[in-house]
Order: sequence, then structure tokens, then C-alpha cells
Amino acid sequence: MTMIDRRGILAGSAALLAATTVRAADAPAGTLKAATASKGRRFGSAFAWSPAGADAGSFANPAYAALLRRDCDVLVPENQMKWQAIRPAADRFDFSRFDPMVEWATTNGFALRGHTLFWAYSRWFPAWLNNHDFGQRPAIEAARILDQHIDTVTKRYGRKIDSYDVVNEAVDPDTGNLRETSLSRAMGGTANVLDHAFRTARAAAPHAELVYNDYMSWEDGNAKHRAGVLALLADFRRRGTPVDALGVQSHIGLFQPTTDAGVVAKRLEPEWRAFLDRVTAMGYRLVITEFDVRDKGLPAAIGPRDRGVADFARAYLDIMLSYPQLGDVLAWGLSDRYSWLRGFEPRPDGEVTRGCPYDTDLKAKPLLAAMLAALAGGVRQVGQAA
Ligand code: G3I
Repeated sequence: MTMIDRRGILAGSAALLAATTVRAADAPAGTLKAATASKGRRFGSAFAWSPAGADAGSFANPAYAALLRRDCDVLVPENQMKWQAIRPAADRFDFSRFDPMVEWATTNGFALRGHTLFWAYSRWFPAWLNNHDFGQRPAIEAARILDQHIDTVTKRYGRKIDSYDVVNEAVDPDTGNLRETSLSRAMGGTANVLDHAFRTARAAAPHAELVYNDYMSWEDGNAKHRAGVLALLADFRRRGTPVDALGVQSHIGLFQPTTDAGVVAKRLEPEWRAFLDRVTAMGYRLVITEFDVRDKGLPAAIGPRDRGVADFARAYLDIMLSYPQLGDVLAWGLSDRYSWLRGFEPRPDGEVTRGCPYDTDLKAKPLLAAMLAALAGGVRQVGQAA
């Protein structure tokens, strides 16, 4: 990076920090972590690694770090703990980005969630794992690779990470069946891989909450995905697989044109509650792991768009927070400036997505107020994991 680039980044960060400091006064009273703590829960967010001072959703960007400090008790790495990031080859680990994140979080008093010990989807495997030669005894070699991964990560960070998305997105949303991968072919089926991952995690990190994390959501079109997740959770119980909680990712969204998000939410509520009732009836706790709002169906104008996002979120969070089994609540980033939605879920009109509580200037939005009200108004959490 040239000196000019670096000066530009630092100047941009200083301006953003000033903006955040000033604008905190305009934000609704209270912080997300205080509202959440009032009901015995923790609030948190995804965060990233970047070079010092870069304009990124990173601990090393002072403006973003100020938001994390203001609102969060618990942080989760958006990408830097994934196999693609930390395991460049079967016999090699690289913690050069994740270590400084853990160091910063723990020295600043944050708890950490681990995302993810195993993303059960070949699309997100490192290329070497999709192409690995498992040799003469494939089940043993596959289990060795998986165990080595889970043991290495959990033991490196010990009690600094107290909750893990042990398995992420194993259910194919189109069919409700479990996805096949190179590991599942080697180990005689996906169920074997998932059970193995949870058992290894429990043995290596007995202090930690173990979560199955997925994006079966409440919108239309998710019925097969929800059914597949329910079947998987029932199978875990039948087999005695040590799973403590369902991670409900909560990338909620309005996809069809609408001007009344509240009406849409009312229509979706009964089926969503039926799903959550069945999950909790099996003895699982709930975690909101990746909350944000996709706003494609809302008008471009900021006023009505922000109102729609806030109303939809409020209705959703009110439902989730009516469950005493709900523990941590995490956003998948705090600012529209750095949200994955901008790249992965762009609006057809090209406008910047507005699915996070703070906008691209890190200024509070109506969504923040809706989240504060919902979090403070929920029922108390009970039955925390050990
Ligand atoms: O870091 C590289 C950079 O070096 C390179 O120059 C650049 C060029 O494309 O790519 C950068 O990596 C990207 C990374 O995000 C960081 O921005 C990857 O290509 C991109 O695939 C990656 O996307 C992430 C995605 O998961 C896949 O891992 C998103 O940021 C992240 O928000 C998203 O998060 C997922 C959760 O893990 C699981 N649930 C759904 C959620 C949203 O899709």
C-alpha cells in the first residue's frame, strides 16, 4: 500500500470516528448490549480482519471498533475462522488473521462465538478438500482431517470462544435433504460426518455451547428447508448427538413489492412460531446468529424503506424474543457500509442495501430503534447452557 493510500484510509477512518462520536448523541437512548442484557442475554455482531486503519468492518478500523464497543458483548468472525481462511492445505493451518481478532476481542472484554467448525457445503470447502485423495481407508482419513481441524481450533482458543457453530448449513433448501460432500462420501453419509463433528467438539471444548446453524427462514419458499432442519434436529436427538442449540441465522427479507411490512409479518408468524415450537419442544435452545434485513421488496426512497425494514425486524424479533430459550442475539455486521448484502444481495435498482442498524456513515437508523425496543421488551432468557 502506498503512503497516499494509507493516509487516505486513515483520514477516512478519522472522519468516520468523528461522525460516530457526534452521532451517538442522535442515536436512540441506550445501547443494544444494555437492552439485551436487561433480559439476561448478550448482543453481538460479526466483525472482520483488516490492515490497521482500513475502511472495513474490522476491529482495526477505529470507527467500526467504536460501534462494536458501544453495542456488543460478543463478537463472531465473519470469515476468518472458516476452513478457507485458516486451513490452506490438509497439513497446514494459518491463523495469521484470526489470532489478532481473538487477541483484540479478549483484551477488550468481548466474548467470542466461533463460526464455523464445519461448513457442510462443498461450495465453501477449500478446493483441496473437494479434491482430496482419501486413500485406501477413506472413512479414517476423513475423520482424521475433521478431528484435527476441530481439535486444533478449539484447543488453540480454549475458553476464549464459548459458543461454536459446529456445523453450518448442512440441509439443501431445495430438497430438505442433507448435502453431500467429499467428506460425506468418504465417511459413508452426511449424518456420520455431522455426528462426528459434534462429538469431537464436545470432547475438545466441553465448556462451549454447540450450535447447528442454518438459514431456514420465515419467508415464503422455506417450507422444505424448515422441514429438513426439523428432521435433522430430530435425528440428532434420536442418535444422542450433542447439539445444544439451533442457530437461526435470521437473514430475513422482504422480496416482493410491499408497502406494509407489518401485514407480511403477520401472515408469516403462525408457521414460523410452529417451527420454533417444534425446535424448542425437542429441548433445543435458540441463538440468533446472523441477523440483518434484505430490503429488495421495499421502495428506493429511504424514509419508507427504513420504516419497512424496521417494522419487519420488530415483528420478527418480537416473536424470537418471546421464547425464553433464546440466548445470544448477533447481527451479521452493524453498518450498511460493510454489509455482505451489498455484494451478495444487491437491489435491482442499484441502491445500497439498508439492512443493518447503522447506515453507510455509521449513523443510527430506525432499525436500531426497533431492535432496541424489541430486545428490551422480550421475555427473560432461561436455562442458559453450561
Ligand atoms: O478476502 C478475500 C480477498 O483477499 C479477495 O481479494 C476478495 C476477492 O473476491 O475476496 C475476499 O474474500 C471474500 C470474503 O467474503 C471477504 O470479503 C470471499 O471471496 C467471499 O466469498 C466471502 O463471502 C462471505 C461468504 O459468507 C462466504 O464465505 C461473506 O463475506 C460472508 O458475509 C458470508 O457469510 C455467510 C455465513 O458465513 C454463513 N451464513 C450466510 C452468510 C451470508 O452469506
